[in-house]
Amino acid sequence: VTAEKAGFDHFMLKEIYEQPKAYRDTMRGRIGEDGKSVLLKELQMSDEYVKSIRKVQIVACGTAYHAGLVGKTVIESLVRIPVENDVASEYRYRSPIITPDTLVIVVSQSGETADTLAALREAQRNGARVLAITNVVGSSVAREADDVLVTWAGPEIAVASTKAYTSQLIAFYLLGLHMTRVLGTQETSQEEEMITALQQLPEQVEEILQQAAVLKQVAESIAHHRSLFFIGRGVDYAVAQEGSLKLKEISYIHSEAYAAGELKHGTLALIEDDVPVIALVTQEALYEKTLSNIKEVKARGAHVLSIVNSGFELEAAKSVDEVFAIPKTLPLLTPALAVVPLQLLSYYASLALGHDVDKPRNLAKSVTVE
Ligand code: AGP
Repeated sequence: VTAEKAGFDHFMLKEIYEQPKAYRDTMRGRIGEDGKSVLLKELQMSDEYVKSIRKVQIVACGTAYHAGLVGKTVIESLVRIPVENDVASEYRYRSPIITPDTLVIVVSQSGETADTLAALREAQRNGARVLAITNVVGSSVAREADDVLVTWAGPEIAVASTKAYTSQLIAFYLLGLHMTRVLGTQETSQEEEMITALQQLPEQVEEILQQAAVLKQVAESIAHHRSLFFIGRGVDYAVAQEGSLKLKEISYIHSEAYAAGELKHGTLALIEDDVPVIALVTQEALYEKTLSNIKEVKARGAHVLSIVNSGFELEAAKSVDEVFAIPKTLPLLTPALAVVPLQLLSYYASLALGHDVDKPRNLAKSVTVE
């Protein structure tokens, strides 16, 4: 077993460190030789079909659902088609409006999650085309979907999903770029800029991993708290939700993720002296707004760690207690970097508390019951 962990203490840590490779593997063969275009040859859907799509529904559970939240922003901003997100266990019971011009995207690492599979079948029964983003070739979801985008992250053993999530993000970026090309919704120069930035992500993740020791220290100080909060706006809010789930599932510390501007509508009442707040501040257009939300929690005594873009550390340091900078990328791509420090925080918090990191209590890797 030690050998399988390649010298790492846990599968989760190994999988966190495998992310640069997973990003590259998910992109491999899908970016043209000129490095300027995305080619998803495995998709059976025709360009005519892509042009007919009027609505997208993204359906998944847990971490895969959180990847879908980022996917919504990617598709809506690049392609300008409305996207709905559903937790798979809710989808069938809200009588979703599924029409033949609805593309349903199911996201599942294992491809065996019962609710996600049931959602896929429901969508097909209603005449929709289903595209699956999955990590397991030959899984039930992969076999039944009309189109499959495999995330080549390699086997994920730890219950807490890390590299599967980030490779799902890469799959959404590629899919968004593919649809953009077919529909002509972006300038070619913007597409090229995004493809270049995508290819820089693996190295940028390496840079973050080199700073793991800093996060270990922060995690050890967080570990003795009973409750904490993650805040962010836009895609930062999506990443906040993933960070919160990761922390809960392996450290058993209660946490909540909030859209930063929503705090003052209730949750702010829970902020008191010394409560840790992890604030994601990676969207330049929203810096000011999020900083003012940080001031609201600081004024109530919160201890704030913020994840910011490199170049913004000094400015952010004026308003928060601790700053962790991620390398600069395009606003849509920051989730693929910002989530990495949160994965490490959860890992080290769980470790500090002496929990079974790879096999947290009450949870299974693949949930095959509804
Ligand atoms: C992730 O850390 C969780 N263990 C869990 O939320 C998981 O993402 C969810 O059960 C969905 O699994 P799937 O991707 O295999 O469908």
